[in-house]
Amino acid sequence: MKNAVLAQYKTKRDKHRTAIEDIKYIIAGKDAYTFEHCERVSYYCGLIGESMNLPDRTREALKEGALLHDLGKTAIPDEILNKQSALSDSEAKVMRRHPQLGAAILQEAGCCKRALPMILHHHERYNGTGYPYKLSGKQIPFYARIISVADCYDAMTSNRSYNDAIGKKEALRGLILNKGSQFDPDIVNSFVTAMQTTPESHMYYIPAYSKFGAVAAAY
Ligand SMILES: [Fe+2]
Repeated sequence: MKNAVLAQYKTKRDKHRTAIEDIKYIIAGKDAYTFEHCERVSYYCGLIGESMNLPDRTREALKEGALLHDLGKTAIPDEILNKQSALSDSEAKVMRRHPQLGAAILQEAGCCKRALPMILHHHERYNGTGYPYKLSGKQIPFYARIISVADCYDAMTSNRSYNDAIGKKEALRGLILNKGSQFDPDIVNSFVTAMQTTPESHMYYIPAYSKFGAVAAAY
């Protein structure tokens, strides 16, 4: 009986891992920049999770959600996703649909349910000025608040065709300046601590897809 339960658990876990891998390939196939960005955001979320002493299983769920957080961009037209300059208002409106689109794709696929609130709410802001639902403070799911910090840090430190990357110190300063307005202050504090204590040699995860080198808008 015990073995049967264990076997069932293993099958479920393997299916889940396969689903995550499949989704990663779908994102990479659509847009290499988005894939790499998701990988880095997941890495930074892992650092925040460690810094906040989140249990291993919780941290894994967070890292998975971060890997999928921009899944909805696979449903955004290429001419908007890969536009080499700032988006027009109407294009930005389309781009800002990606949290709902990502959640809808996952719901339809019937997998990775834990990632849904992270995908749906990663662009909410602590002061209630984000999207899609203008949630504020602790109304925003905890993991989505973490992804928001990691997401913006990576956006600030990544090169885009119309936006040069800024350095680590400057980006951290940007997060600190926006504590309590855009970001949860405790999460920013944990991230800053993690970034200051993690050795530089461990810092940047370079994914295998770097060779594609595409660009995407910062939304
Ligand atoms: Fe996003």
